[in-house]
Amino acid sequence: MRISFLNGDFVNHEDAYVHIDDRGMLFADGIYEVTLFANGKLIDNDWHLDRLNNSLAKIGINNIPYTHKDLTKISLDLLLKNNITTGSVYLQVTRGVAPRNQLIPKNITPTVIMTVSEMTLPSVLSLDKINKAILEDDIRWQMCDVKSTGLLVGSLLKQKAADNNCDDAILVRNGFITECTFSNLFIVDSANNLITRNLDNFVLPGVTRKRIIELAKLANINVIEKAFSIDELLKAKEVFSSSTTLLIRPFILVNGIQIGDGNVGEITRRLFTSYLDFLNT
Ligand code: PDD
Repeated sequence: MRISFLNGDFVNHEDAYVHIDDRGMLFADGIYEVTLFANGKLIDNDWHLDRLNNSLAKIGINNIPYTHKDLTKISLDLLLKNNITTGSVYLQVTRGVAPRNQLIPKNITPTVIMTVSEMTLPSVLSLDKINKAILEDDIRWQMCDVKSTGLLVGSLLKQKAADNNCDDAILVRNGFITECTFSNLFIVDSANNLITRNLDNFVLPGVTRKRIIELAKLANINVIEKAFSIDELLKAKEVFSSSTTLLIRPFILVNGIQIGDGNVGEITRRLFTSYLDFLNT
């Protein structure tokens, strides 16, 4: 039986219902995190929980009834109860249940849910899949640094990519790349610099992004955090995205244009291997 966590209880997943007046449903008034569990560990759990705190603070939810220690214990218990050895933990906190009103209600208890899913880690072989992306206008809001459950635009654009036989959309704001629909984006330029957009309100501060930057620095790869243009993207030797569930995903074609020599680049391969090594340590 699949078990999930709902407001303090471990419940049968099939019976895990939230009230129709939950502000998460009515206003997407909530925050989430997705954390990887591999080799018996929650990967970069502290970074995920810090980001959760930041996101909650930015939308003014300050009364979540669990400490980081509690949330970690609940995650590990849930993984155990579901017999999951490699997978992901989905945690969502909404402001709570209140009759529909645009004004933010005071003194309501946040709804906290957690689910876990089994997954297989991508292997080095998965790097050889030819991933394609389309470029799309980034029409999301201006608080993309908040890990909000308001994901409709990302979902619509990811679907548009799939409808165009592509794996993802790379988002463009004012001529500059922000990120992908559900991941951050990196390029490698002709001088082998690893470039990703600097953190601002137009990108999510990805945990995998942060780890990749650390691993790259350890490998003496020069990292530049700056806004880069469509032109720089299309002229790059290598392009890849990063996220908790996909780790590192290279793109070989963007809007039908070949990236580099059309093969997965050396820096992408090196970082992918370092990331798997990091998961194994
Ligand atoms: N998505 N940018 C966006 C818009 C994202 O939704 C995500 C994560 C990332 C990468 O963040 P991280 O490395 O911390 O996973 C960047 C998650 C995985 C999701 O919605 O399923």
